[in-house]
Amino acid sequence: MISKIKILMATQTGSAEEVADEVKETIEAEGYSVDYHDLADESNLRFLSDATFLIGVVSTWGDGEPPDDAVPFFDLLRESPPMGFAKTPIAIMGLGDSGYDIFNGCGKELEKELIRHGGYSIIPRVDCDVWYEDELSQWLNDLRRTLASQGATLSSP
Ligand SMILES: Cc1cc2nc3c(=O)[nH]c(=O)nc-3n(C[C@H](O)[C@H](O)[C@H](O)COP(=O)(O)O)c2cc1C
Repeated sequence: MISKIKILMATQTGSAEEVADEVKETIEAEGYSVDYHDLADESNLRFLSDATFLIGVVSTWGDGEPPDDAVPFFDLLRESPPMGFAKTPIAIMGLGDSGYDIFNGCGKELEKELIRHGGYSIIPRVDCDVWYEDELSQWLNDLRRTLASQGATLSSP
């Protein structure tokens, strides 16, 4: 049952944060409650353990790396033995620029790592290029449909 939806957000210059805010508003408008996590503020992985649906909205910097402030979180995620999520659905939206060699490296790594920890992709990962409004609205529709079809728990009034 989906009762703990968590958004994992990592940004350098704010675009992924804007997108993650829109994702949060969209989900809440559907009647679900959602926890919002800026990965720059997370110093351990404990908050992941009770998630029943994980949404990642992250940008890529450097040579295919996470935003600077989120590097410690990604190091932890990479170095930790599998947490053994109980088949937690995940949905990842990466922001990047296909002009760089490692397009959306951070989004790809987040998906790979969450799968290693026991998650599975319930919506195909979206790798957003410089212009991404169409992909975002399509992905939000997919997300809404998926939460409804999975019988996600509505928040109490
Ligand atoms: C210095 C620099 C390095 C970047 N490196 C990459 C990269 O390796 N791969 C990629 O896909 N995008 C790369 N980007 C593009 C950013 O991911 C993209 O502009 C994104 O929308 C930024 O989102 P943010 O504002 O949430 O950080 C880079 C951008 C800059 C300015």
